[in-house]
Amino acid sequence: MPDQHNYDDIIGALQEKYNKIDQDTDDHLYGLLYSKPITYWDYIQTDALLNLQIQRTTLPDEMVFIAYHQINELIFKMILWEISQVAEKNNLDVIFFENKIMRISRYFDMLTTSFNIMREGMEVEQYMKFRYTLTPASGFQSAQYRLIEFASTELINLIDYRFRKDIDRNTPYTHAFEHLYWQAAGKDHKTGKKSTLLINFENRYKDEFLRFMEAYNTKNLWTRFKELPQDDQKDIDLVKAMRHFDYTVNVTWVMAHYNAARHYIDSGIGDGEATGGSDWKKYMHPKYQRRIFFPDLWTEEELKNWGNN
Ligand code: HEM
Repeated sequence: MPDQHNYDDIIGALQEKYNKIDQDTDDHLYGLLYSKPITYWDYIQTDALLNLQIQRTTLPDEMVFIAYHQINELIFKMILWEISQVAEKNNLDVIFFENKIMRISRYFDMLTTSFNIMREGMEVEQYMKFRYTLTPASGFQSAQYRLIEFASTELINLIDYRFRKDIDRNTPYTHAFEHLYWQAAGKDHKTGKKSTLLINFENRYKDEFLRFMEAYNTKNLWTRFKELPQDDQKDIDLVKAMRHFDYTVNVTWVMAHYNAARHYIDSGIGDGEATGGSDWKKYMHPKYQRRIFFPDLWTEEELKNWGNN
């Protein structure tokens, strides 16, 4: 029995859509007629995606290392996607805000709980070999990781504690950039000389970071939170969600990462140095980094013990 369905409604809706944009509905219907059916591999671009894991060695576990970093970058993209919707939302309400924070936290929970793929999912011998082909690169050069930081909180909360008293809202972004907490990982603390890790990173992303820092300085998660009505800022579920996000990114994920780094770099094989050349043990531990996106949502006691437990 041929399909007798009445398509008047949908055709009418299509005509309305294309009239609004001065398009000829017929052309688009012919387009439908002649277009080939979509396939999963075309829609998800699996061919392109699965050809992006390009090893520098023949060591099988290098594939695990590359693919897991790429998974992280895809999740970082999803996190930035959610944050941008909070940043751009007119008439931001507490339910919308909370839902987005919960999504973002869920993504970071996944990155944290799955970090064992790195810590226990590769042979130490293999990692300690293929890592030599990575020097001077490092996950430190993940641009999206920095964008998530700029999009989550006000710049002052990302400035190295030693320089915070001299920096305020009127400080030029280029000066603030030079005093971000992570600059310390790429600078010789005596001479201030920048490492290849940091020089390469800045050459590639500094302009983009400065534009993003300026754009998000007035619409990051913390600034948008403070725009909510006072009562909403006391909303227990929202505050809980904000604290969970802050702690997951800046303590739980950081510790999972730190423990993975120790598992390999402290394995006794190799020189104990980081591929990026930072003083990693001091730099990577949350009790030293003390990166806190939403300090006003924590008690004095919690702030004092940050990253210690
Ligand atoms: C075996 C696995 C890993 C090891 C041994 C490791 C080691 C390190 C070390 C030593 C640093 C300090 C910078 C340096 O001198 O290189 C670092 C920084 C970093 N890594 Fe990893 N890493 C691993 C996996 C990952 C993964 C899967 C990601 C996800 C993208 C990642 C993202 C980062 C980021 C964002 C930083 C900068 C952190 C900050 O500035 O606080 N790492 N990593």
